[in-house]
Amino acid sequence: MSTVLITGANRGIGLELVKIYAAAGDKVLACCRNPGAATALAAIKGDVRMLTLDVTDAAAVAQLAQDVGNQAIDLLINNAGVLGPDYGDQTTYKMDFDSWEETFRVNTMGPVRVLQALLPNLKASADPKVVTITSQMGALSLDMVLGLAYSATKAALNKFMKLAALDLVKDGVNLCVIHPGWVQTDMGGTGADITPHDSAAGIVATIKKLNASNTGSFWKWNGEVHGW
Ligand SMILES: NC(=O)c1ccc[n+]([C@@H]2O[C@H](COP(=O)([O-])OP(=O)(O)OC[C@H]3O[C@@H](n4cnc5c(N)ncnc54)[C@H](OP(=O)(O)O)[C@@H]3O)[C@@H](O)[C@H]2O)c1
Repeated sequence: MSTVLITGANRGIGLELVKIYAAAGDKVLACCRNPGAATALAAIKGDVRMLTLDVTDAAAVAQLAQDVGNQAIDLLINNAGVLGPDYGDQTTYKMDFDSWEETFRVNTMGPVRVLQALLPNLKASADPKVVTITSQMGALSLDMVLGLAYSATKAALNKFMKLAALDLVKDGVNLCVIHPGWVQTDMGGTGADITPHDSAAGIVATIKKLNASNTGSFWKWNGEVHGW
């Protein structure tokens, strides 16, 4: 059985990932900003430990590392994310810069903070993996003129993780970024293509194929390769 740490675990795709790993008998470290209000997460049966984490807060990330202690982490899933400013306020012509900055803190720097803090725990695993939930909107190959601030945060995230994969393969840590599809969550909206369960199930299956020969990959939730 594996130990899996998931950020943004209280709703959406993160919550579904917790359900799947917990049902499989894995030990899940489920991180969210406000565990006291995470009723859906608290109701999940299995070996699930809730931990408090705002990924933008350096002190909270350091506290997380302390709370986790020296236990090995086999899989880190950087899932927490925000869409940023209203779409009308993140265009070529108009930008809410404060909100864009905050979006960078959550979507781009958050995963890096968590990865760096938990690297000793990952290195203690026999087969450590770091999976970051990105978006197709961060692909330079996709000309979708929407959510320019959000897209830029995910593009920067992709670049960091691609380079980090080259570094960390030497330590036996394999990384990938995964586009989860257009998913029926608070972020994706009710009109989206797929359910959170179908997205999470696809992500879990895709993670199984991550190894040293394909580290640094950009995949879709259904296992297909995504163009950078
Ligand atoms: N839904 C889609 O169609 C879609 C498409 C492409 C990519 N994605 C990506 O998939 C991931 C999950 O999205 P989702 O659709 O499940 O979104 P969601 O339902 O809006 O959930 C977002 C999660 O991130 C957490 N979060 C936000 N800011 C945080 C912070 N500063 N620290 C810690 N946690 C924070 C939220 O916690 P709170 O409840 O405390 O706010 C929540 O648990 C995101 O990275 C998103 O960019 C989603």
